[in-house]
Amino acid sequence: MKLLVTGGAGFIGSNFIFYELEQHPEDTVVCVDLLTYAGNLETLEPAFQNERFSFHKADIADRQAMDELFEAECPDVVVNFAAESHVDRSVTDPGIFLQTNILGTQVLMDACRKYNVQRFHQVSTDEVYGDLPLDRPDLFFTETTPLHTSSPYSASKASADLLVQAYHRTFGLPMTISRCSNNYGPYQFPEKLIPLMISRALANQSLPVYGTGENVRDWLHVYDHCAAIDLIIRHGKEGEIYNIGGHNERTNLEVVKTILRQLDRSETLIHYVTDRPGHDRRYAIDPAKITEQLGWKPKYNFDTGMKETIQWYLDHKPWWENIISGAYQEYYEKMYAGRE
Ligand code: NAD
Ligand code: DAU
Repeated sequence: MKLLVTGGAGFIGSNFIFYELEQHPEDTVVCVDLLTYAGNLETLEPAFQNERFSFHKADIADRQAMDELFEAECPDVVVNFAAESHVDRSVTDPGIFLQTNILGTQVLMDACRKYNVQRFHQVSTDEVYGDLPLDRPDLFFTETTPLHTSSPYSASKASADLLVQAYHRTFGLPMTISRCSNNYGPYQFPEKLIPLMISRALANQSLPVYGTGENVRDWLHVYDHCAAIDLIIRHGKEGEIYNIGGHNERTNLEVVKTILRQLDRSETLIHYVTDRPGHDRRYAIDPAKITEQLGWKPKYNFDTGMKETIQWYLDHKPWWENIISGAYQEYYEKMYAGRE
């Protein structure tokens, strides 16, 4: 099988590429990524050692570039991770979220139709369901929970999901959608809560907790997300949506305190700052469908997963220090000088 993975130089996409190359030695993986601020080619260095892997720098919203890529590569399956992914950025600059997350998805689906791709998989998010109240721990998102978005980011992801479903119904596009909760693990861009707090705590800088820190996220190790997507593209039913989550709900304050404890830093570093506008209160996934129908079960529990993850950031300081300094953006030029 030949997989085309979009957004593979980002956090989850890169972990998915490593997963596929390792678990499916018969498959080849082509990555397309625009290398925006969130894309880091250095992350993919281990994949470049593998002859079953290749990389193209291009914009998923560029129709001509996608047509040329699909014609040259003829992928069997497309997995779309490429997106603007950070909620706070969508509050300050919504336009690029609509461009990449909605129009980019449309361009990819048109290419899938034109070049007879067997499966288009859209990587979506639990944020399309909006949020749950903090005082109703009995409530969870299921695949039939109505879409009810809060931020330009989540609205763009929900719009893309609707478009994917419309392409299935109208044109018969063979597709699946997955909606996962918050991921943590190696190679997450240090603007997101966990790597941001780790890098700042190590530098003894203040840790900006939004509002009261009582908002709840449902954390899943990125490995378990990748394993779930792998199952869906191989065994999931065409036209279906699958929620992915491991019942690891924690308040933001609990997560930050866990980090401080492991790094042996004082809680006095915590600094409460003005809340995110429209801040979702609680996310919580009901993963019954993927568990019962596809036999998916997470391998990590939050405590061991977090321990390993914090250790990973301690062991890979140059990776995130290069991002914070901006040096990672020179990597593509170095690696591809004279090749194009
Ligand atoms: P990320 O920001 O780390 O990576 C996104 C990648 O997409 C980057 O490599 C970037 O260069 C690339 N990209 C952006 N615009 C592009 C374009 N126009 N053309 C080609 N490539 C482009 O994001 P992530 O956290 O890895 O998220 C990946 C996907 O998973 C997103 O679709 C996101 O909505 C979804 N998701 C994320 C989480 C999470 O917790 N991070 C949870 C559920 C779903
Ligand atoms: O639920 C899945 C979503 O999880 C994905 O679709 C998004 O792409 C991904 O970015 C993530 O969204 P969140 O907004 O939940 O993640 P973030 O890491 O930005 O924030 C997690 C929580 O921590 C949230 O309640 C806001 C809070 N926070 C975040 C930052 C960056 C802080 O309190 N302080 C901060 O500095």
